[in-house]
Amino acid sequence: MTEEIFNSAELHVETVWPEVIMKVKVLLLPLFCLLTLLTGAECAAPKEIYVKEGEMVALYCPSCRGYDHGDAKLIWTSYTTQDMDLTNNVSSAEQRQLGIVVHGRSLVILSASVNYQGNYSCSQGSASTWFRLTVLTPQSREYEKMTQYPTTCYTQETCTLHCPDVNRPAPNIPNITSNGIIWHKEGESLPKDSYFSSVEESDHGVYTCTRSYLCYGQIYNMTFTVVLDVQPKEKPVKDAAITEPQNNHVFHVDLGSPKVIDCKAVMYLKFDKVFWLIGKSFVETDNSLPVFYNFTRENNDGELKMTASLVFKKVSEEDLSKNYTCKLQSASELSGFVTINLAQKPRPSYLSLALGVVGIVLVMVLTVVIYVRFKINITLFLRDTIGCHSSTSDGKSYDAFLVCYKSNTDAGLHEDDRKELENVLEERFGYSLCLYDRDVLPGKAVAEAVLDCIEQSRTVVLVPTSPDPGPGSGLLSAIHEALVERQTRLVFIKTETTDVLRSGSLPEALQLLGEAGNCVTWKGISSMPPSSSFWKQLRYYLPSPQRAPKVRLLPQTIQDVMSL
Ligand SMILES: *[C@@H]1O[C@H](CO)[C@@H](O)[C@H](O)[C@H]1NC(C)=O
Ligand SMILES: *[C@@H]1O[C@H](CO)[C@@H](O)[C@H](O)[C@H]1NC(C)=O
Ligand SMILES: *[C@@H]1O[C@H](CO)[C@@H](O)[C@H](O)[C@H]1NC(C)=O
Ligand SMILES: *[C@@H]1O[C@H](CO)[C@@H](O)[C@H](O)[C@H]1NC(C)=O
Ligand SMILES: *[C@@H]1O[C@H](CO)[C@@H](O)[C@H](O)[C@H]1NC(C)=O
Repeated sequence: MTEEIFNSAELHVETVWPEVIMKVKVLLLPLFCLLTLLTGAECAAPKEIYVKEGEMVALYCPSCRGYDHGDAKLIWTSYTTQDMDLTNNVSSAEQRQLGIVVHGRSLVILSASVNYQGNYSCSQGSASTWFRLTVLTPQSREYEKMTQYPTTCYTQETCTLHCPDVNRPAPNIPNITSNGIIWHKEGESLPKDSYFSSVEESDHGVYTCTRSYLCYGQIYNMTFTVVLDVQPKEKPVKDAAITEPQNNHVFHVDLGSPKVIDCKAVMYLKFDKVFWLIGKSFVETDNSLPVFYNFTRENNDGELKMTASLVFKKVSEEDLSKNYTCKLQSASELSGFVTINLAQKPRPSYLSLALGVVGIVLVMVLTVVIYVRFKINITLFLRDTIGCHSSTSDGKSYDAFLVCYKSNTDAGLHEDDRKELENVLEERFGYSLCLYDRDVLPGKAVAEAVLDCIEQSRTVVLVPTSPDPGPGSGLLSAIHEALVERQTRLVFIKTETTDVLRSGSLPEALQLLGEAGNCVTWKGISSMPPSSSFWKQLRYYLPSPQRAPKVRLLPQTIQDVMSL
C-alpha cells in the first residue's frame, strides 16, 4: 500500500514563481550560497540520520540564519527509491497513507523500513538542508555503534540513566502524543527505574529505554541501548593541597608594573583544580583583561601538579585593596583556599639616601681635614698619653745628632738659642743628644767622629747657626752620603729667610740635605716656648725619646689638644 503511493507520486516542479523572479533568483543564487556559508553552515551541511528498522524517526528542518524566508512554503522532498514531494498537493490523509506526519518544521516517519532509506531535503525559498537517512537492521555494520550508548557510574554514588533523545519528534505535533519512557534491563522482564540512589557493581549491564508515542491509535516506538559500567569509587591516595602561596601572605608590588602570582597545588584526581577569585567573583582566563589567570597542569605518576598564575598586567592602586583567593576544588571531601593581599613596595627615600651619602662624605672630608690640620698635635698627644716609646732597642745610643750649619742670614740660631734648644730637648723632652762639641771625643779625625755620631743616632738634626761653630760645609756632603746609605732620618731646621730649596745661595750639599729631610722653620724668639708650633713640629719629626722624659708632659699636651 505504502509503496503504491510512493510510485504514484509526481515529481514536483516549482511553478509558482513567475519566470522573471526565477531568473533573478538564479542570478542571486551564488550570493545566497556565499551568505549561507558565512552565516548558517547548518543549512549547507547534510545530516546523517540513523534509525532502527520498524522504529519512529523525526527529521527537523533547521531555520537558516541570515535568510529571510518570507512567506515561502517549507517543502520536503524525498530522494529514496523515487524522488517525490511530500508536502505540496499531499493531503494529510495521503501523508498518513505514506506513514509520515509533516508538521511545522518536522517530518516524522512513524515506522522506518528500507523503503524510507535515502536522501531528504527540506527547502524554504533558496535555503535547503539535506538529510541522509540510513535504516539499520541488526545485521547492519553500524548497528551497535549507532544504537548503543555507554555510560559510567561509581559505586555508592547516585546514578541516573539518561535515555538518548536524538531524532525524537518535537513535543508539539498534534496527533502524536508521548507515552513516556520505559526502562528494561537485558535479561529481566520487569521495567527498571533509571535512577539509582547508590549504585552497586551488580547494577552494571545493558539497559534499554523505549520512548513510545501514540499516533492515530497506534503505538510507535524509539528504543535505545544504554550500557552501564559501574566502577569502584575513585579514592585519592592523599588529599589535594595548595602548596603555595602561604595563607594571608602579602605580596609587595610596584604600582604600574606587571605582577604574576603563582598558586601551586598537588592533587590526585583528574577533575581537581585550582582557580582564582577576587573577593567573591571568579577571575577569568581571558588574557585580554587587565587581571586574568592562566594555568598549567603536569602529571607525575598520578600526582597532578597544577599552577594557576594570577596575572596583573599593571598593578593599580585599586588592586591593593582587594582580597585574592586561590581556591582548590577537589572531588575528595577536603577543599582548601588561601587568601593573599597586595601591598605597595616601600619606596626607598631618595632624599634620605642622598642626605646619608652627603653626610658620610662630609664626615670623611672633615676627618681628613682635621687629621691633616692637626696630625702633629694628635700624634704628639697619642705619643705622650699612650706612651708609644719603642721598647725594643735598636742598639743606638742617641735619639738625635745635632749638626750645625752656617745660616747665610742673621736669622740663624745664636749660640744661646742653640744651647737653649739642646737643653729643652734633653731636659724637658728627654731626648738623648749627640752633640759635636760635647760628645765627640777629642783626638779623633773630624770626619770619622761625625760619621760615628751619625751611626749612633736615630735622627740627624741640622741646625742653622750664626756664627757657624759646626763641622763646616765640607762635611755636609759626607753626612748626606752617610744618611742615604744608612737611611737615617733627617730633620732640617731652616730659618724663615733661608730659602733653602729655591735659591742657589746654599751649598749644593746643603740643598740636597734640605730636600731629603723634613723641614721645620725657626721663627726666632716666637719659637722659643716649648709649646710653640716649632717645637711641636720638631718633636713630630723626631722619634719618641728612648728614655722617659724627666718632666711630665701630659697636662701640657692635653691643654694643647684642647686648645686646637
Ligand atoms: C544521497 O546523496 C548522496 C550524496 O550526498 C549520494 O551519494 C547518494 O547516492 C544519494 N542517495 C540516494 C538514494 O539518492
Ligand atoms: C489529526 O488526526 C485527525 C483525524 O484523526 C485529522 O482530522 C487531523 O487533520 C490530524 N491533524 C493533523 C495536524 O494532521
Ligand atoms: C511499540 O511497543 C509496544 C509495546 O512494547 C508494542 O505494542 C507496539 O506494537 C510497538 N510498536 C511498533 C510500531 O512496533
Ligand atoms: C601566564 O601568563 C603570563 C603572562 O602572559 C606568563 O608570564 C606566565 O608564564 C603564564 N603562566 C602559566 C602558568 O602559563
Ligand atoms: C578582606 O578580608 C578581610 C579578612 O578576611 C576582611 O576583613 C576584609 O573586609 C576583606 N576586604 C575586602 C575588600 O573584601
